[in-house]
Amino acid sequence: MRRELLSVTGAEGIGPYTLLRVARGRLDAGVPGQFFMLEAPGRVLPRPMSLCSASPRELTFLIDPIGPGTRALCSLGSRDKLHILGPLGNGFDLEVERPLLVGGGIGVAPLPRLSEALGGPPAVLGFRSDWHAEAAALVPNAETCIEPILVTKLLPEERHDVLACGPAPMLEAVRSLAPAAQLAWEAPMACGYGACHGCAVEIGGELRRLCVEGPVLRRGGTEHGGTRGSPVSPLLRRAGSTDRAGAPVSVLVQMHR
Ligand code: FES
Repeated sequence: MRRELLSVTGAEGIGPYTLLRVARGRLDAGVPGQFFMLEAPGRVLPRPMSLCSASPRELTFLIDPIGPGTRALCSLGSRDKLHILGPLGNGFDLEVERPLLVGGGIGVAPLPRLSEALGGPPAVLGFRSDWHAEAAALVPNAETCIEPILVTKLLPEERHDVLACGPAPMLEAVRSLAPAAQLAWEAPMACGYGACHGCAVEIGGELRRLCVEGPVLRRGGTEHGGTRGSPVSPLLRRAGSTDRAGAPVSVLVQMHR
């Protein structure tokens, strides 16, 4: 893990999202599913972002501009610089026999790099609109659905090693169908390395820091003693709001603003 001041090399719109390109500097790209803290100039708190792709010279991050912090990141241009800290947390276990990638919404962000690391396995992706689904072009071999069709409808009946990233209700549904799945959870994060307890979630009946224990939990979190519902559900209950489908995903998104 290191923190570097890096130059933005470009930014392009993909549906409602922005793919931010940054010179790699000496940053280690880490394991797919690990995350980085991106500090937009003039903003107090950094934002946690998973790496979308990495080349020897460049890192890319797919960002959903849903609040002041993420909009500041998406407005950066090629003359700007930002501090990036990482890689942080635990990524996906790549020792899998028959991988299937599952993504929902901005949860597609780490899947291009994960797909590359696993040799381009099949993927199923769910989005709320055709506009959002433009991000599916980043993931090879992807089958896509649009709401109200849920991505879990695309899960094949044959056994796969499922690796998933998306909103909490989607991960809950995936876990109920594939209990051994590796799930990348979202939580509000202020520091990213275990110091602030801002990402504490209920895992195995105890509050643990998702930035240290996760964000990827193996077997949906059961290797940590099991979760009752989503490990982020206490945060969601505290925030006390639901999205238009009755699911509390938007609360998490708001916490990431
Ligand atoms: Fe600070 Fe996890 S983000 S402890």
